[in-house]
Amino acid sequence: MIYFDNAATTIKKPECVRNAVFEAMGLLGNCGRGAHEGSLSAGRNIFQARKKLCTFFGGDTPNNLIFTANATESLNIAIKGILNPGDHVITTAMEHNSVLRPLYEMEKQGVDLTILPLDKLGRISIEELKKAINEQTKAIVMTHVSNVTGNVNDIKLIGEIARANGVLFVVDASQSAGTRKIDVKECNIDILCFTGHKGLLGPQGTGGLYVRPGVHVKPLLSGGSGIHSFLKEHPADMPTALEAGTLNGHGIAGLSAAIDYIESLTIDKIKEKETALMRAFYQGVKNIPGVILYGDYEDPEHGPIVSLNLGKEDSSYLSDILAEEYGVATRAGAHCAPLVHESFQTTGQGMIRFSFSYDNTFEEVEEVIAILRELSEEFIDE
Ligand code: ALA
Repeated sequence: MIYFDNAATTIKKPECVRNAVFEAMGLLGNCGRGAHEGSLSAGRNIFQARKKLCTFFGGDTPNNLIFTANATESLNIAIKGILNPGDHVITTAMEHNSVLRPLYEMEKQGVDLTILPLDKLGRISIEELKKAINEQTKAIVMTHVSNVTGNVNDIKLIGEIARANGVLFVVDASQSAGTRKIDVKECNIDILCFTGHKGLLGPQGTGGLYVRPGVHVKPLLSGGSGIHSFLKEHPADMPTALEAGTLNGHGIAGLSAAIDYIESLTIDKIKEKETALMRAFYQGVKNIPGVILYGDYEDPEHGPIVSLNLGKEDSSYLSDILAEEYGVATRAGAHCAPLVHESFQTTGQGMIRFSFSYDNTFEEVEEVIAILRELSEEFIDE
């Protein structure tokens, strides 16, 4: 199989990640729930992972690095934990439903929601963002890299705007964590939400958020904490405040090994190769008859994603042909990002998304370009 669905999840986890999960499954007790070696090992392991991820994202307070099951959980915690009725929040039409749906829920509770529209290349306007900020604006919540077009938001610039206006900046790094450098301090990020199973190369069921010290996030869950058991309220200290229940210690052990692996490769090298794969694919497909591309390829920062259509053919139909007849894995349809498809008027057709990782090769790219040429000959009347 040629796997070009890395934006959904990276499929081949490094051997060190698999080994770390396997070993943890024979070693770890329940973190913070005992004083025996099993529990202490889990505690040490999780704390090391917390520290590692905190540093990886440029943070300086490991206890503010919270573990969750995925970016959706992180974004729900962030969005529902900072917004109150009467607040105004700004987001973009680039977002995944993991941002949009919690925001729509908050809108029903009396939060005023502004969604910045996209231009014909799928980009937001910084001028419109600045104009949207008002006295009631509590937060800007947005993705770093679009999971559909690969377009990148300038989080450094937007973070400066947010901080200058006293607005919280919440970033969805689902598509960028592990594949490009993110520094929460440099970008004035108040809450960074990430998943472990995509660019970070960790197991599914891992993710987290980093909360800038001083930002209060109301917990989404309460329950077992291992401490202060006679209190009626869930403890307010971080990280416990936002981590009710047993953590995914086994997954976190894998994620921790994945960070070591990424650091040994270096983010720069990963980004360079993924960008080169994406560029080679883009150059190879852009002139194929019938190919319609979506996104801003003039931007040198464009992420390792290319979404396209072939004439008016249904994207799911072509994606199935790619999988079944050629063994090429892609993702078709709406990619849980409805407003991107509304902007490009592809709600019916969807798009076929090709997303690359460090593991892919230029030979694979060439092979898939040749397959798309064949499909074009079959489906497009010139
Ligand atoms: N959010 C993931 C994607 O874009 C699953 O495919």
